[in-house]
Amino acid sequence: MALKEEIARRRTFAIISHPDAGKTTLTEKFLLYGGAIQTAGAVKSNKVRRGATSDFMEIERQRGISVTTSVMTFEYDEKLINLLDTPGHKDFAEDTYRTLTAVDSVVLVVDCVKGVEEQTEKLMAVCRMRNTPVMIFINKLDLEGRDPFDLLDELEAKLDIRVRPLSWPIGIGATFRGVYDLYDNDLKLFESGKTKVEAASEHITDLGDERVDRLLGGELAATLREELDLVNGVYDPLDTSAYQAGAVAPVFFGSAFNNFGVKEVLDSFVRIAPAPRPRPTDQGEVRPEDPAFSGFVFKIHANLDPNHRDRIAFLRVCSGRFQRNRPYRHVRLGKDLRFASPTAFLAAQKTIVDEAWPGDVIGLFDTGNFKIGDTLTEGATFQFGGIPSFSPELFRELVNEDPMKSKQLDKGIRQLTDEGVAQLFTQQPGNKKIVGCVGDLQFDVIRYRLEHEYGARCAFRPIQAHKACWLTSDDQEALDRFVRVKSTQVVQDKDGNNVFMAPSGYMLDLEKRENPAITFHTTSEFKTAATSDR
Ligand code: G4P
Repeated sequence: MALKEEIARRRTFAIISHPDAGKTTLTEKFLLYGGAIQTAGAVKSNKVRRGATSDFMEIERQRGISVTTSVMTFEYDEKLINLLDTPGHKDFAEDTYRTLTAVDSVVLVVDCVKGVEEQTEKLMAVCRMRNTPVMIFINKLDLEGRDPFDLLDELEAKLDIRVRPLSWPIGIGATFRGVYDLYDNDLKLFESGKTKVEAASEHITDLGDERVDRLLGGELAATLREELDLVNGVYDPLDTSAYQAGAVAPVFFGSAFNNFGVKEVLDSFVRIAPAPRPRPTDQGEVRPEDPAFSGFVFKIHANLDPNHRDRIAFLRVCSGRFQRNRPYRHVRLGKDLRFASPTAFLAAQKTIVDEAWPGDVIGLFDTGNFKIGDTLTEGATFQFGGIPSFSPELFRELVNEDPMKSKQLDKGIRQLTDEGVAQLFTQQPGNKKIVGCVGDLQFDVIRYRLEHEYGARCAFRPIQAHKACWLTSDDQEALDRFVRVKSTQVVQDKDGNNVFMAPSGYMLDLEKRENPAITFHTTSEFKTAATSDR
């Protein structure tokens, strides 16, 4: 019985956005409402800023912050909310994609001036892959932004999802007066500069009410009535199950900086966001209510102190009850491990916990046993699927600059790629190592950490590669022939899978046409039988 109740009260989600849209600011406002922090400015931005300090210092600063903000747990309206942090820099997007496998829903922040940006689209594409429910917060309404209807059209067109506004802005920029809450029929009035107080609110069920004219003035009142008529005419009422299936995104307008329109998102979130959901494994679905504990590692964080090689593995509990000091099966290694000091992250404090429930994220002290995607169970042998590796965008050959330290280099690059800092491919003969990243900064991180943590110096040599494509085929002979003929362009990933390094988009298209029996995958998701969350 306790298990069911614990599941029902948990909500595990992430806030995602293109950098600068307001993710950190919105996070902070949520934490203020949840009582997890007391003052504005308490949440440090985990952005890596280029400029004043050296990039490496910035990277370390960012790593220092990200361990304390990896999971932020707070209570709101009788719900226990686990907010998972995602990196603020696009070069670390892969980390964000992995974190998205550990949440049950997301809140997407969009800047009303800029609309849908490049990273917004990429993040949403990942959410759409597993039908993750999405709420959208259109931020910075205090600035002269775009027309709300245009923004909604753009969201639908570029993000491939239907939308339904649940709040509506009254004016924008200099004329911004507040929002109309379409869920509770409240008119909320904005007072600029007040960052911690509740908005003045009038409950108005009938928009014909003369209070609307009195509060807004005739012109704004008329526009609001007209626009809400249009909203209700164009958009169907919110269907909660369609939202939970990832087909419709409720949309809210406001200003995170001014703490305006934020409470509406949080209130709706606790009402309609899904509790922990079943998850696919290679042996069928695991339900949170299943009494036996299971979970998977979606993030690994190395110790900042180079003298201590230990790490924290972040595990999402998927079913049953996790208990401290009980032996659990590490499925990939086939051995039992016990955890004496698992940590949780209540009120921004790291505390040792005795138990954890589905939806929770715990930090496990790790001396090198874990890789991203590893499963822990009470003895069962299934493995969770769907931790994606996307084809990197940049490829370089790793060159050892100090032949006396080749062992350290090998170990270092293996451990860093286990942590998910980058992807490692190997090419035979010669055991050539190719590192694939999403952004240049990741190469800086690897070089810096190899030197400081492993005492190994390396350089990166550019290679001609456009995309990494995992290869599958029903026709084993055709696949073997391709691998043989293209041996100079075929490499192995860390699990020994064959990967074709397409030298250009043109060549990839050509190979696809000439080898119809072979499928070229640009994500590694194909490796698990089940790729959807339901
Ligand atoms: P991010 O985590 O998504 O990258 O964005 P973040 O919250 O750091 O916000 C980016 C910038 O946008 C910040 O300004 C922040 O103050 C501002 N901002 C957030 N919400 C609003 C809003 O509702 N209205 C307006 N006008 N600005 C908003 P900054 O100058 O880059 O940083 P800071 O010096 O304020 O920290």
